[in-house]
Amino acid sequence: SWTMERFIDIEVEKIRSQVGDRKVLCALSGGVDSSVVATLIHRAIGDQLTCIFVDHGLLRKGEVESVVDTFSNKFHMNFIKVDARKRFLDKLKGVTDPEEKRKVIGNEFIYVFDEESAKLEGIDFLAQGTIYADIIESGTATDEVIKSHHNVGGLPEDMEFELIEPLKALFKDEVRAVGAELGLPADIVHRQPFPGPGLGVRVLGEITEEKLEIVREADWILRDEIAKAGLDREIWQYFAILPDIRSVGKRNEKRSYDHAIGIRAVHSVDGMTADWARIPWDVLETISTRITSEVDQVNRVVYDITAKPPGTIEWE
Ligand code: XMP
Repeated sequence: SWTMERFIDIEVEKIRSQVGDRKVLCALSGGVDSSVVATLIHRAIGDQLTCIFVDHGLLRKGEVESVVDTFSNKFHMNFIKVDARKRFLDKLKGVTDPEEKRKVIGNEFIYVFDEESAKLEGIDFLAQGTIYADIIESGTATDEVIKSHHNVGGLPEDMEFELIEPLKALFKDEVRAVGAELGLPADIVHRQPFPGPGLGVRVLGEITEEKLEIVREADWILRDEIAKAGLDREIWQYFAILPDIRSVGKRNEKRSYDHAIGIRAVHSVDGMTADWARIPWDVLETISTRITSEVDQVNRVVYDITAKPPGTIEWE
């Protein structure tokens, strides 16, 4: 649209005059905000931008490939992918408390990012996908922390970079519009909110590679069926959870003692409150049938019918 084109033109000019011939670093998470900020800055200064993408092994199926494909293959950015999967898994061994998980994941992200950025020379600026809501939210700290909401990509304040935050004044839907105008693919522009600690807070209890694989496959099937039912733009967030329980079932005339998968799908405006989505029963049935037949070690699917409050959107 005209407004978004104009926004892009103005910001591109601002970034060019601020940066000159110097270099910018960006932590790319694959989320909407960091993707849009990277693409906007790339439009302004091209190869003077370097993006670091940390693969912590807690992303959903297909996401790493989509990020690499978009930023490396399509936009040809200076793009560094760090495979930190083993590092994160090692650090998370034995960690079961949700807040402890967030701390471990957030800290490890900073260590990895620090290490990688130290290898680069002559970086003066750090680009961040801060949007208007981030500024508002951090200004309204409540007395009790329900969840620390570690946003992977939240970087230490003592880094010696000047900040570039061109999306600071935008609402989420405006950020998406800018992304679309810049040519980002729909799967990134319309990506649902996804917590920084990723699947780390959707595998309840201790995280293992095997459990991550189970929740990833179940989530993939859920997303596929929601898209086929045409509900993907209607529902704010929908995802699979792997609770730390097993139950008895019967498969091929034999007793099974396997995992249960939880399905969560909510309508929300800002994530602060939410209602569970009334997904048609036949869609739920297909989801359940597919998950129990296609995902190894899952013999039961349950649907979460809790609003927020009293629940939260994520289970941890
Ligand atoms: P809750 O579970 O608190 O989630 O109802 C509200 C929204 O925030 C997301 N969420 C997080 N986002 N880091 C994030 O960046 C986190 O640690 C985190 N925990 C929850 C959640 O997916 C929902 O959109």
